[in-house]
Amino acid sequence: MAAQAQTIEVPTDAELLQAQADLWRHSLCYLTSMGLRCAVELEIPTTIHHLGGVASLPNLMSALSLPSVKMPFLGRLMRVLVTSGVFAADDSGSESGEELYRLTPLSRVLLHGVVADEHHSQKYLVLAVTSPHYTEASLGLADWFKKDTVPPVTSPFEDRYGVPLLDEKAALLDKELDDVVNKGLAAHDNLGIATILRECGDIFNGVESLTDCGGGDGTTARALVKAYPHLKCTVLDLPKVIEKAPPHDVINYVAGDLFHTVPSSQAVMLKLVLHFWSDEDCVKILAQCLKAIPSRQEGGKVIIIEIVVEPSLGPIMFEAQLLMDMLMMVNTRGGQRDEKHWRQLFMQAGFTDYKIVKKLGARSVIEVYA
Ligand SMILES: C[S@@+](CC[C@H](N)C(=O)[O-])C[C@H]1O[C@@H](n2cnc3c(N)ncnc32)[C@H](O)[C@@H]1O
Repeated sequence: MAAQAQTIEVPTDAELLQAQADLWRHSLCYLTSMGLRCAVELEIPTTIHHLGGVASLPNLMSALSLPSVKMPFLGRLMRVLVTSGVFAADDSGSESGEELYRLTPLSRVLLHGVVADEHHSQKYLVLAVTSPHYTEASLGLADWFKKDTVPPVTSPFEDRYGVPLLDEKAALLDKELDDVVNKGLAAHDNLGIATILRECGDIFNGVESLTDCGGGDGTTARALVKAYPHLKCTVLDLPKVIEKAPPHDVINYVAGDLFHTVPSSQAVMLKLVLHFWSDEDCVKILAQCLKAIPSRQEGGKVIIIEIVVEPSLGPIMFEAQLLMDMLMMVNTRGGQRDEKHWRQLFMQAGFTDYKIVKKLGARSVIEVYA
């Protein structure tokens, strides 16, 4: 059939030029991600740290042992990474007037092999989310949208590889990826517990016992009992996780399944667990947590630490939340939820009330009551 001529609204020249630049930015921003991955693979943040926190391009070239022919190219990579805030650059302190690269808070969280209080290198998070497996899953989005299925809707990752991300069988898919994903996840989850304790530690005041549900290797529980020595802390996780958890004289480790039973305690914590699960599964998990706690009058509560999607946090935090939601959509059956969505899940699970206690960056601390 012959194409019919259609009229479209013609942009002004200024709009057209802006649209072209925006198109380049949006369609090429994967190169920022890959540039970040490259910086992590080359260990550029750690190298700048070892050079005293500041490095010229020749210093970097030599410390990284890169062939000199690549120097102008490294300069171009650094220019993009400076523009996106991964590094800072200035020429103050340089006698020759050459640019000096410095670490920013973002590149500091990428330092690897550096032991410091509260430091959890995010190197593996970057390597996981920019890995070929993750990026290939996202390339399948359009086909995934067209495919009609009966719920539960599997993710593009699951459709592409036949196993859900984080499933035990995912280890068989690619041992190296599984290792990177697990290390990335641990680093991601452990970053910030100290901030939570400083910013809203009072949510644990008066709590006598707490179950950290899906509490992993107990890193959060150890920080909690250190800060609140009176707290009787239980960590519930899958047997394969509990088997590897470092033994602790105060923490009670329970190998189990949060869909079946949650050990009773005054408070139950779900930190960065629910966003992996579908709404139906979240309601099942929350219903188990509800059974485990006493009434609000007796101090019973479920403490949830998760993203609450909210544009009022500003464009950068909001975009970060939406990208984390897309990450969940591509790779899991879960997602990031706004307050209305959270409220629906709490009520469906049988809770009567909730309170967003504190917003911490892109995440929130929520208390939910029986
Ligand atoms: C993203 S991690 C969160 C870890 C921890 N809450 C933190 O913030 O550091 C999710 C945890 O849930 C655990 N998990 C997944 N399915 C589970 C199940 N059915 N029962 C108990 N734990 C489970 C995983 O093993 C993992 O440790």
